Amino acid sequence: MKYILANWKMHFTNHQAVTMLKRLDNVIKYSENVSVVLFPPFSALSSLKNQIDLLKINQKFKLGVQNIYYEDEGAFTGEISAAMVSDMADFAIIGHSERRIFFGEDDELIAKKMQAAIRHNITPVLCIGENASEHTPMHAKRIVLSQLSSGLANLTAEEVGQVMVAYEPVWAIGSGNFSDPLEVGKMIQDIRAAAADMYSSSAAESLRVLYGGSVEPDNAKAYLKLKGCDGLLVGGASLNYQKFAKIIEKADAISL
Ligand code: PGA
Repeated sequence: MKYILANWKMHFTNHQAVTMLKRLDNVIKYSENVSVVLFPPFSALSSLKNQIDLLKINQKFKLGVQNIYYEDEGAFTGEISAAMVSDMADFAIIGHSERRIFFGEDDELIAKKMQAAIRHNITPVLCIGENASEHTPMHAKRIVLSQLSSGLANLTAEEVGQVMVAYEPVWAIGSGNFSDPLEVGKMIQDIRAAAADMYSSSAAESLRVLYGGSVEPDNAKAYLKLKGCDGLLVGGASLNYQKFAKIIEKADAISL
């Protein structure tokens, strides 16, 4: 099974999001080998959920959110909890580099959010990755594995097996400078090996590891065929339904 995730970031009104869903529905064939997950802004989540139910396309499209807060409810103005979205979203992106950079999210907060997602039966997608100045083989591995261990810190081995990790080099996000697949393949193996050391080999095997950072139809295959790569987290290219559909086709062809 390959997972292809569309991170729409802060794009699309309600109406645009529903139009996008309908376009995707027209061009994408359902495949049991590919799980497609859309991450709209919170404002479009319930409209998309209603459309998906109405069109009976729940198998073809799953929904996720781009962030959650770790408390279930309370005086936290502007925040949205895992509890509030758990009847609409099956996935939650946690610790995306844009949240770390622009909203000051640190490892401790991210670890609490991971726990909150698991508590509400939402698959957390933990985003980890080195920035441009850390982009040397030694540095990158140290940074990535330290983000991994702090992100998973509050979870049991069994819970770690339910997690998704997206390896996204910060310098590759939205820049068009995509990563060398050989380096990505090595990092994916390092991530699994570290999870096996920290938890158990069965937790590490169940852990799903994705790549993200300037994924396009032309480079998707090179990552999807890497050993241990369970899928892709796509930003920019997911805003274009034709490009996104092509990436899904590549995933389907690989996993056959
Ligand atoms: P990008 O974004 O595909 O536009 O690089 C990926 C992400 O931020 O998850």
